Amino acid sequence: MEYRPGTGYSLPGRHESFWMATTAQTSHPPLSGDLETDVAVIGGGIVGITTALLLKRAGYMVTVIEADRIARGVTGRTTAKITSLHRLIYAELIDRFGSSQAKQYADANQAAIDTIASFVREYDIPCDFVRKPAYTYAESEEERDLVAAEADAARSLGLPATFVEDVPLPARTYGAVRFSDQAQFHPLRYLLYLASLIPGDGSRIFEKTRALEVQDGGGWCAIRTENGIITSRAVVLATHYPFYDSPGFYFARMEPSRSYVIGARIDEPFPEGMFINADGPVHSWRSQPAEGGELVLVGGMEHRTGEQVDTRRHYRDLEAYARSVYPIRSVDYRWSTQDYITIDGVPYIGPLADGHENVYIATGFRKWGMTNGTAAAMILADMILGRANPWAEVYAPDRFKPAASARRFLVHNIEVAERYIGGVISRPAGDLRDVAPGEGRILMIEGEKTGIFRDHEGRVHAVNPTCSHLGCIVAWNSAEETWDCPCHGSRYDPDGKVIHGPAVRDLKPRGG
Ligand code: FES
Repeated sequence: MEYRPGTGYSLPGRHESFWMATTAQTSHPPLSGDLETDVAVIGGGIVGITTALLLKRAGYMVTVIEADRIARGVTGRTTAKITSLHRLIYAELIDRFGSSQAKQYADANQAAIDTIASFVREYDIPCDFVRKPAYTYAESEEERDLVAAEADAARSLGLPATFVEDVPLPARTYGAVRFSDQAQFHPLRYLLYLASLIPGDGSRIFEKTRALEVQDGGGWCAIRTENGIITSRAVVLATHYPFYDSPGFYFARMEPSRSYVIGARIDEPFPEGMFINADGPVHSWRSQPAEGGELVLVGGMEHRTGEQVDTRRHYRDLEAYARSVYPIRSVDYRWSTQDYITIDGVPYIGPLADGHENVYIATGFRKWGMTNGTAAAMILADMILGRANPWAEVYAPDRFKPAASARRFLVHNIEVAERYIGGVISRPAGDLRDVAPGEGRILMIEGEKTGIFRDHEGRVHAVNPTCSHLGCIVAWNSAEETWDCPCHGSRYDPDGKVIHGPAVRDLKPRGG
């Protein structure tokens, strides 16, 4: 019997993204047999769908394949702020990259807002798109200097930034940087509309089709999937994290991070704007029109994927924080998401690596996927079409800024090594009888390390906890009831089925 996650423990709200709960699931067929196309796009989120549409509009035949259903992955779990205000980033970017490249990042994200707006206008997409200001607010006197400096840095790059004293949230604040004319929307209504424009004239979408391997033969690429081989002139890896990393380049340069969202009702109108705090644990706010009245989306409480704690506490902490700011009438939804953060904080967008010029990646959006993801699609489409792109340099995957990156690079690799080695040599204690309903643990059973989950009906689900990607030991995520890998963020359901890459193979069954 298929296991249904998220049942049986008392956390607030329905355990489902509001975006997914309010859109119908798609039903594109799986690939059946081999095919040839101009460009193959792996992944049906905002990067993959937008890239495919831009290329189709330019006259290319595109094929999108998605391991599950399109727009049900990370794009379906965002807070869907369409803004170039990325908490605090511009002062840091100028420092690390110089003004010229910092401006490329700023311009790319502003252009992404305009591109989304123009698609909404051109196709008259009913997706609750609305322009709003975005704020990054200070919660202390020290942070006030940071947000003031950010306002100066952003304005120097031509962004619509001002420092404001008053923040229209009932929280204690000390000023904010405010960007005017930003936007928000219902991301799935938007993306599913774009996706509906792709099939036809030789272009296709296939769901339930997992890519297993990519080969770049120089001029032609081949993707081996579960259901056939696709050959194409170019491949776009729009899988959030590149499952294919032949040079071994990316796995060591990004860290996976999880964060949480609740959808709550309050008894007063939410202020005009989208909000995020400047420092410390993330507190993010926006509102969303919904049946039965406005929903307030509160997000944050991020942590590294695969941490060895009861992750349910993050939902509880988020709810407690929200209640400290607003009287909450009800919490109607809760969900979580995963992001990747690069060593220097800027996404990798462009050719995968030397010798793989026909395979393109877009990853590491640092939780700002609506604009960085749309900008990625614009950059990759330009590259594939042979057009110059004015923002490609700052995002180039082969950049390396030792001064900016070295410390974090080293710390990240040591952390991954410790998790791998720690997972391999530690001998977990405990007994099957100690595992309560709803709990997951790693136990030694008959001399083998075993991932045990006892479901809410008392049935035991047992897996080999060695991640099928590169062999780290997975950890139990109690909030989502999944096995999560601390090394590169692969995630599996209680029976070991892959639900998030880079892994493409399931966990082996116990003893396998
Ligand atoms: Fe890379 Fe698990 S995700 S080892």
